[in-house]
Amino acid sequence: MPDRSELTRPISEHFRTVLGRLPTGVVVVAGGDREHPSGLVVGSFMSVSLEPPLVAVCVSRTSTSWPAIEAEGRFCANVLGEGQEELARRFARSGGDKFAGVGWSPAPATGSPLLDDVAAWIDCRIYQRYEAGDHWLVLGEVLELHGLAESGALVFHSGVIRPLS
Ligand SMILES: Cc1cc2nc3c(=O)[nH]c(=O)nc-3n(C[C@H](O)[C@H](O)[C@H](O)COP(=O)(O)O)c2cc1C
Repeated sequence: MPDRSELTRPISEHFRTVLGRLPTGVVVVAGGDREHPSGLVVGSFMSVSLEPPLVAVCVSRTSTSWPAIEAEGRFCANVLGEGQEELARRFARSGGDKFAGVGWSPAPATGSPLLDDVAAWIDCRIYQRYEAGDHWLVLGEVLELHGLAESGALVFHSGVIRPLS
């Protein structure tokens, strides 16, 4: 039975709690200036189209990292794997040098940061950006991608980042 009080409360009060029941992946979207890269954690990453190959991500308009990423027109989506919880927490904080001490190399197509030991990476150029309330809905055109079959996944569920296994 639904909790009747949830049905009468304003949507904004329980939006996060209810949508948090949907497990998502944990992805670091990274790009920007090659000397001073930028990145943030998102759970809103998804595949969209095969022809052309497109992915989507929703980025808050309050993101301090996104403007620098968008300015370069490219990003690498780093799918975090088991054991990378600390990396997730680091990129979920605003401000500071998030890349200090983090191992990465330039992704092959765009040169965006490809973090060491991620479960998968998707190297993209920004294809379209749409207004979506307090977020941007961003489409990326996939130029290169790779995944490690043996890597375990990290998931975000009910406000907690945890390994899938
Ligand atoms: C698991 C998880 C998923 C998140 N998903 C998103 C998301 O989809 N879009 C978004 O804009 N922020 C998302 N965030 C919040 C950002 O990571 C957070 O606001 C971060 O501080 C933004 O950093 P920035 O100001 O450097 O851009 C998520 C955070 C966590 C922990």
